[in-house]
Parts: sequence; C-alpha cells; structure tokens
Amino acid sequence: MKFPRTCAHRYMAILGAMMLVACGAMVDARAAASDSAAHIDVSGHVFRLDAAKVTYALGVNEKGQLQSIYWGPRLAPGDPLPAPVAPPGGDSINGAVDAVPQEYAGWGEGLYYEPDLKVTFPDGNRDLALRYLSHSVHGNMLSVVLKDIERPIVVTLQYEIDPGTGILRRSAVIENRTVTPVIVEQASAGTWFLPRSHDYTLRFLAGRWAAENSIYERPVQPGKTVLESRRGSTGMQNAPWFAIRRNDASETHGQVWFGALAWSGSWQIAIEQDQTEQIRVTGGFNPFDFGYKLAPGASLQTPSFYAGVTTGGMGEASRLLHRLELTRILPQAPHSRARPVLYNSWEATGFDVNEAGQTALAEKAASIGVERFVMDDGWFGARNSDKAGLGDWTVNPQKFPHGLKPLIDRVHALGMDFGIWVEPEMVNPDSDLYRAHPDWVLNMTGRPRTLGRNQMVLNLARPDVRAYVFGALDKLLSENQIAFLKWDYNRSWSEPGWPQVSPDQQKNVYVDFVSNVYGILEELRRKHPNVEIESCSSGGGRVDLGIMHLTDEVWPSDNTDAFDRLRIQDGFTQAYTPGVMMAWVTDSPSSMDGRSMSLEYRFLSAMQGSLGIGANLTKWTTQDVTTAQRLIADYKVVRETVQHGDLYRLVSPDSGSEHSATENVSPDKAHAVLFAFLHSSTEGYLYPTVRLQGLDADARYRVRVLQGTLAERTPTVASGAYWMNVGIDVVMRGDFQGAAIAFDRE
Ligand code: DGJ
Repeated sequence: MKFPRTCAHRYMAILGAMMLVACGAMVDARAAASDSAAHIDVSGHVFRLDAAKVTYALGVNEKGQLQSIYWGPRLAPGDPLPAPVAPPGGDSINGAVDAVPQEYAGWGEGLYYEPDLKVTFPDGNRDLALRYLSHSVHGNMLSVVLKDIERPIVVTLQYEIDPGTGILRRSAVIENRTVTPVIVEQASAGTWFLPRSHDYTLRFLAGRWAAENSIYERPVQPGKTVLESRRGSTGMQNAPWFAIRRNDASETHGQVWFGALAWSGSWQIAIEQDQTEQIRVTGGFNPFDFGYKLAPGASLQTPSFYAGVTTGGMGEASRLLHRLELTRILPQAPHSRARPVLYNSWEATGFDVNEAGQTALAEKAASIGVERFVMDDGWFGARNSDKAGLGDWTVNPQKFPHGLKPLIDRVHALGMDFGIWVEPEMVNPDSDLYRAHPDWVLNMTGRPRTLGRNQMVLNLARPDVRAYVFGALDKLLSENQIAFLKWDYNRSWSEPGWPQVSPDQQKNVYVDFVSNVYGILEELRRKHPNVEIESCSSGGGRVDLGIMHLTDEVWPSDNTDAFDRLRIQDGFTQAYTPGVMMAWVTDSPSSMDGRSMSLEYRFLSAMQGSLGIGANLTKWTTQDVTTAQRLIADYKVVRETVQHGDLYRLVSPDSGSEHSATENVSPDKAHAVLFAFLHSSTEGYLYPTVRLQGLDADARYRVRVLQGTLAERTPTVASGAYWMNVGIDVVMRGDFQGAAIAFDRE
C-alpha cells in the first residue's frame, strides 16, 4: 500500500477558521467507499484515515496542537476537510486550550476537561502542554509524536485502522526522556470527538453478579458520565464499552459511534459534553488512586481503545465489533476455531469432585455428543470448600489417588478432550502457599487484609509471584494432557499495596499486575499452543478486548437460568461476539430463580452462544438424553453460523418483552438460524410474525425446523426477500417456549 504525499505542506499556511483542506481527490483515487483496503493520507499536517465505511481525520493547528477534524461515515476522495485551526478562546473563565478538540490533551495551560495525560515532576511541576513533533505511517498505522513544550516527555499516539470494519485502535506510549523519574497520574489511550450536536443518547452496560450487562441509556447532556472499574480488574459494574447514538437511531438504522477498551485492570471511560458542546470520550487507565512511577528512559503504553462508527444502527455497531473480535482480537484471529460443545462439572458436583464421580459424568457427557469435558473447582490441595486450598496447585490425593491421568485417559478414550479449572491469581489464607509466603499478597503494612470469598489476591506485579504462578500452570500443562483451562478470578481488590517497593512505586501495581497476567497468558500459549483458555470471573467479571486477545472464550455469568440468560446474552452481544459467549444447559428448576423450564427451552437459550452442558447428567432420564443428543447434533451443524456469523437481534428480551428472537447469518449469507422465545402466552394472541434480516434477497432458502412448529401455510423454500418481508410464523403457546429454525441457501 502506498501513502502518497500529494498535497502541499500547508501546516504553516493556515489561513483561518473557515479555510478548508481539500486533498483527497489528488491523493488517492482508490479511496472509494467500496474498496477493502485501508488508506492513510498525509497532506502537510492533516492526516486522513479511510477504511470500510469510515473516515477519520486529524491535524496540527497553528499552535502545534493535534486536534480532531472529523470522525464519521466515509467521505468521498477529495472532499474538503475543515482546517485544523485552534478556535479563538481564552478568557478569565476558560483557557484557550479548552476550546480545542485535542486528540491527546496534557493537563496544563488551564485545561478543565478530562485530560489524556497528567504528570507530576519531582520539582513539583504538574503543567504539561503537548505539541506536535513528528509522524510516520507503517501499513495501516499512523503514529504521531507529541512532546511537552519544555520537558522531554514524549507521547507517541498510535492510530491503526482495520480495513474490514473501519474500527480504529488508539493507544499512547508515554516516554520519560528526562533525567529524573516522573509520576504519571492519569493516562488515556486518547480522546474521541463526535460532531457537535444536541441529539445524542449514550448507551452503556452495567450490572452485578448474576445480572451482568444490563442495557442503560441516558441523554448526553452537559456534564460527564463515568463508566469505570476501580476494582483492579474489569469488573461487572460496567462493561468497558460505550455507544452513542443519534436520538433517532434504532437497532436497525441510524448513526452510532461505539467503542471498547482493551484492558483487564481498573479502567475508565468518561463521556463528557463540555461548555463548548464538544462531545468527548476519553478512555484508559482509571485515574483513581493511579500513579505510575516512570523511570528516566522508561515508557508506559496505555491500553488500546477501539472505536467505530456506523449508519446502520445499534445492530450494525455490534456486528462490526463482533467482526473485529473474530478477525483481529481473538488469539486465533482471523480464523478463530469454533468452540467445542463442552461439559462442566461445577453445578453438578461443586467441590465434591473425585475420580469415580467425574468419570461417571464424562461417560454420560460423551454419550450425548459432548466434545470437551471440564472438571471445575475442587481437584487440588485441601480444596473441599472455598475456604482452603487456593494457591496449592497439586492434585488432591484423596480425591485422585492415582493423579489426574486415569480420568484424563478415560475422557480421551470417550472421544473428548480434557479441561480443568484454575484460579491462579488467588490464595486462601488456609493454604501451604500462604503459610510459606504471607508477603506475596496485595496488602498495606499493618492494615487488615480484607478477605473476599475467603481469599486474597496474589501480587502478580512481583517477579517471584509471577514466576510461581507461571511455573505452577506450566507444570500442570506439561505433566497432563490438558486441552483447556477455565481461568477463574473470584474477587475484587482491597488494600492494593506493594510494601516491598518504595512508596512512590507502589501504585505501579495497577499496571504491572495486569501486564504480568497478560505476560503469563502469552508465555503459556507460546509454550502450549494447543491449549485453549476461558476467562471467567465469578461470571462475567473479566470480559474485555484485552483478555479476549489472550483467551478463546469467556463466561458471561454465573446465572445459568435459561430465561435470565436471554437478557444477559442480549446485553453481552452489544459488545461481544456470540463466538466467545459460553452458555450452559443446567438443571431445572434453575438454582438461580427456582424456575422450571423444559430441556428444549434451556438448550435453545444456550445454543444462542457457544453451547455447553452444566447439568447433573446422572439424573437425566432416557428422554432427556435423546433430546440432548438431537439438539447437540443440530447445534454442531449450525454452530459455525451462530459463532462466526452476523448477529441480528430481531426482538430484544429487554424491558420485560414477552417474546424475543435472534438470527445469525453466515458471512457468505448461505445459512441462517433463527432462535425465537416466548415467555408466556396471553389471551390467545398468536406469536408475532418474525421477519428475518441480512439474507440475500435474491437467493432461495430452504427452511428446516430444529425445534418448534411452523404455521401450516409456511413454504419450505422461498426467497430471502420473502423471509425478510413476509416473514415466518412460529406456533408457540404456553410458558417458556422456544423454537429454532435453520435457513439454507439452495
Ligand atoms: C466461579 C465461576 O464463575 C463458577 O463457574 C465456578 O467455576 C466457581 N467459581 C468455582 O469456584
């Protein structure tokens, strides 16, 4: 790819606020909205990035500040762009700097909005004013280097644009080129600016244990909404994701800006409408209790912040993010492996695991078509409850007198691979590890060590702790034929101290801990390339694009009630692909709500994502086994479409809707699968006609019922246009009913 510089260098010749910069037509005639490459056009000090249906432009103004110019639907080549001109401003109330939409604002010069970077120098100076220094382009990435007006604090901003989706990845590398350490008190990946407007609605995800990812909306108004985690990890309180839609945008239409942060530690996304009505979205490390000591010569890379824009409504915003995750983020991207159907022992046996019991479950699991058998918590150390054993990663000899080998061999003989649960970052006080190394946990000298689920957090920032954790996992994987780790993490931080280092370095723990978790995952994956990993954290407490880069799937919630899951999955898929969304079929009545649901309903709910079974199979009837065999076989046929296709949320289960429906369409539009659910019929009303989306209107699709009944007059073959406009009538009456219908192009 070429990056021609065909427009004259015009940075020094800015004429005024009304001047427009036009260079695209001369620059790159290939930059048509339909092509599949990304283009980065540099004309003077205006930078324009184009890919898919998106244009992003930024430039250097006459003061040397880097400012946002445009972010929105793709412009035509040669379209004029507003010149990067610092708007007039600056009086006794607002500094001139506040009127500039700075891509990366240092805290200084009288900045009153969310800064991207705040630094304290040893001499007490806390003023930072960043100005353009240089830029470079490598492939799909533009780097722009900024420097403080006086001191050699150098920031390299990265802008990488994805050709397939037009989603940009932004990150900043902060270098201390002074001769003394500095403390970085706040650092974001960058700030995104939306066009000035009064018709925006913010959508975000919030939740708690067993109720993750509820969808909330509020108008964007003067002031700030902060989405965050202060817990040391991603958390369930908010998902690190946002969407801002035009008020008239819906699931299927309209303009939406959206983004997700790739960081598994404390994070913040601040959405702010300032006094000049600029809409700013700033995301990165959570500034609360932040203070990263940066030695001379050292650098700090911020998390990556991915963001995109679409005119196709909330549904298309999600599909773009899903596509990015499948083709760019996941460890096996762009060819992510389909998730196997797994069995997990947790809800069946709790901590009461042993060779005979697990073998019995494995035999049942194999008989219904399960491909991966996962033994959950309880197999190691003195782990008979959550009060002991965490940290001691040796097989419990009472439960497994001959080690894990006999169970693993049996699982393999049954045609499945074997997975196991671990929670490597934690320790119970009642463990050999804690007795030997009480100083290995996060703590503040002389203060109580607050327990959560009877456990403490190991200080992974310490090199010796990192080495221990890596060693224990490496040994486990080297000595046993393990194909899968369920990597759990069951508490938030308290007393996040690191007494072994100087007081001014202790807060580095917020970054160094997470970097070391990522480092361990990377190293394990390198050494054991066939091992797959699930990120679990008391349910969906560690789901973000950072952990997703190193794990193959995630656990959305400990709530496995099939009805509740419809809502949780609807929220989850706002940001994350069904391809990583693990969903188990568990027992009825559900342990969460005591609700009774048919096995078919429970299966269909779980088949919306990556199917797993978590029920006590030893209690299943012959009828249950037959139903499971049939639906698992059907799932294997449609899973590629479900996991790697495009998701259309046809009817949301949110806000107490009596019915809901989703549809997955394979990328080549050859296959689609519809899942439809009914909570309760009332007053004899028919189930509403479902109109599909995303099919090839001219192609002909044959309908295939996986579960449920279609209205008598339903054709067996009809055009995509027919299914999308006439729709399909599913016959459903009663409580907690479900249907699944496949469509295959002829
Ligand atoms: C929390 C997880 O979310 C559960 O699925 C289970 O693995 C337990 N931890 C085990 O302690």
